[in-house]
Amino acid sequence: MMNYEELMQLAGKVAFITGGASGIGLATAKLLGEAKVRVVLLDINEEQGLKAVKEITESGSEATFFWCDVTSNDDCKNAVKRAEDMFGRLDILFNNAGVIRRKNVVDHLEEEWDLVLNVSLKGVFLLSKYAIPLMAKNGGGSIINTGSGWGLKGGDGAASYCAAKAGVVNLTKAMAIDHGTDNIRVNCICPGDTDTPLLRDEARQLHLEETSFLHSSGVNRPLGRIGTPNDIAKGVMFLASEMSSWVTGTVLTVDGGGLA
Ligand SMILES: NC(=O)c1ccc[n+]([C@@H]2O[C@H](COP(=O)([O-])OP(=O)(O)OC[C@H]3O[C@@H](n4cnc5c(N)ncnc54)[C@H](O)[C@@H]3O)[C@@H](O)[C@H]2O)c1
Repeated sequence: MMNYEELMQLAGKVAFITGGASGIGLATAKLLGEAKVRVVLLDINEEQGLKAVKEITESGSEATFFWCDVTSNDDCKNAVKRAEDMFGRLDILFNNAGVIRRKNVVDHLEEEWDLVLNVSLKGVFLLSKYAIPLMAKNGGGSIINTGSGWGLKGGDGAASYCAAKAGVVNLTKAMAIDHGTDNIRVNCICPGDTDTPLLRDEARQLHLEETSFLHSSGVNRPLGRIGTPNDIAKGVMFLASEMSSWVTGTVLTVDGGGLA
């Protein structure tokens, strides 16, 4: 009978997780680490990134922190070079870093628009640009891009975020078409509201009380609650693993049924 490790084929693989110091990225790093993946957390929050690495390694998994601003071409290029020098390979790329500014187009400042698009969309392009050749060299890999429910439908007061996340959804499909022949699968995970610092920050941006904002974000979903970072990490793990060996160019919505 096939066991769990044979089904997943994750042990020993090397994974990049952007935004790995917090929220969904951190939960995914912990989960993949438990499956014996060598995880690299890429983030601009060094203090939290190093703390996360300490926690993950103390629990018996393998983790490293790379400072990397995903909006920087040089940072992305250097991170992939460093991975090649350290591990000789890269098997999984979770393009997850993202930021949100809760404003409509009229109220948006140009620099806020640029920040959201640069982190959430351009960052996916830049890191993939350098990661794909290394993945291809070693026989392929799996890329998971973080979209959002708001990449699939519009939302109120989040114009730049909706634009960026819709871009991520279709960029995913384009990348899947271009790189399938290198045995690189590219998929998008679209979380619904998930309890992370990003969601709690939205409450502050909207001048809403945090607890009632979190409650109202979950209560009308078929499953009646908001997501946990681990709910999303489990979807990422599926897409990263050989459980999804013939899945590419698709969107996995993990939102408690919110878009149903
Ligand atoms: N939390 C939600 O409700 C929700 C819903 C849908 C989609 N998402 C998406 O999930 C992803 C993860 O979000 P989260 O909720 O875990 O947020 P989070 O704020 O907890 O984590 C985001 C991480 O990204 C890092 N980051 C920000 N800018 C960066 C940059 N330029 N380079 C590298 N790292 C950078 C931050 O330092 C932070 O550690 C984002 O793409 C977000 O848009 C979140």
